Amino acid sequence: MARTERTFIAVKPDGMNRGILGNIISRFEAKGYKLVGIKTLVPSKQLAEEHYSALKEKPFFKDLVDFITSGPVCAMVWEGEQVVVTARKMIGETNPLSSAPGTIRGDFAVDVGRNVIHGSDAVETAQREISLWFEQGELTAWEPTSAVWIY
Ligand code: PPS
Repeated sequence: MARTERTFIAVKPDGMNRGILGNIISRFEAKGYKLVGIKTLVPSKQLAEEHYSALKEKPFFKDLVDFITSGPVCAMVWEGEQVVVTARKMIGETNPLSSAPGTIRGDFAVDVGRNVIHGSDAVETAQREISLWFEQGELTAWEPTSAVWIY
């Protein structure tokens, strides 16, 4: 079991301002995933441009950077079995209107430019994003007592 797989999750300024961070954290906890890093920050333009560097030729790149730097973001690292692909399923599609009810975007969003949350799209991307947003010392290796009931 790849229980140590990690993903990077960011609740964007719309999610923070709408007060749904707790709901989102609850979903990951209830699923059985483990929170190993969390902090709030207003990302710098440099951090945002680096985070979305693969999209720099896209027409929406400036809007995306402006949006993610416009307010607080909750940056998190979640750990567990197949957490990267499963988190993406929990998040839903890029366009919230294509996202099924029960997913985060399906339940909380309608606009692609206000889609509440980011999740890494692959294990390698997750590693890059985690090291971009977090120092190693900000991550906590721990074994919850509930793990025996999950795995
Ligand atoms: S793409 O075009 O296939 O690369 O896009 P995708 O991988 O689905 O999305 C990458 C991120 O770009 C955001 N996005 C947009 N933002 C604003 N406007 C438009 N039109 C738009 N299209 C895509 C999308 O929300 C993804 O952001 P994150 O934070 O990674 O979810």
